[in-house]
Amino acid sequence: MADRHFEHPRLAAVYDVVNGDRSDLQLYEDIVIELGAHRVLDVGCGTGTFAVRLADRGMDVTGVDPAHASVEVARGKPGAERVRWLVGDATCLPPMRVDVATMTANVAQAIVDPSAWVSTLRGIHASLGPGGHLLFETRDPSRRVWQNWNRAASHRTTEMPGIGTVESWVDLTHVAGPLVTFRSTFVFSSDGAVMTSDSTLRFRTREEVEVDLAAQGFVVEDVRSALEGPESELVFVSRRSG
Ligand SMILES: C[S@@+](CC[C@H](N)C(=O)[O-])C[C@H]1O[C@@H](n2cnc3c(N)ncnc32)[C@H](O)[C@@H]1O
Repeated sequence: MADRHFEHPRLAAVYDVVNGDRSDLQLYEDIVIELGAHRVLDVGCGTGTFAVRLADRGMDVTGVDPAHASVEVARGKPGAERVRWLVGDATCLPPMRVDVATMTANVAQAIVDPSAWVSTLRGIHASLGPGGHLLFETRDPSRRVWQNWNRAASHRTTEMPGIGTVESWVDLTHVAGPLVTFRSTFVFSSDGAVMTSDSTLRFRTREEVEVDLAAQGFVVEDVRSALEGPESELVFVSRRSG
């Protein structure tokens, strides 16, 4: 079950505007091109920004996400007809042999349950052709970025045509070891509606991720850090062995 801010139609509809700066996707696009990929699977595609972007470049793209409302937003985008959209996750994919699988914008952290994480890596492994690559990021726990997840640091007001003004912010609500829980709040000026969505993310260390990838048949080729960015992501580039 995806979080409410991906699953509720009203919140899924504002995701792209509230998260307007997608410069984070450039690194992924560069790596996908560097790898010479043609067939791409975007796991946790959300509202489909990255999937559509790759399809626009002529790639054969499948986007999968458990949040039906987000996939509906994706389906409505110009160019979406070139992408194959699936509602679900990497554990229930139809047979495919892609060159690259991606999980952009910290999808890996949203997969909190250890057994779901293992089955996600297994499902991706099975969907990759020989020598295929998996790219994803996860925030570096040592940087404790959740300390900045409060209203003062995250408040933004966004003007959306046809929707009006949306105010949004996040508040950290609980930290229990590697599990960090926060609440996202959205206030719609058009009718005064206040909607909240609670999320828990798992922060895995670089070493933990490397062990998990090796156990599921991946060779880590590179770990690029985006430490200069506000959220301190580690970007893993790994290859299916065998
Ligand atoms: C922060 S959003 C990122 C969406 C998109 N990748 C992007 O770059 O905009 C996280 C996404 O992970 C999805 N998600 C949650 N659990 C998942 C799972 N088990 N497998 C795949 N995706 C999942 C959510 O539905 C949500 O769309």
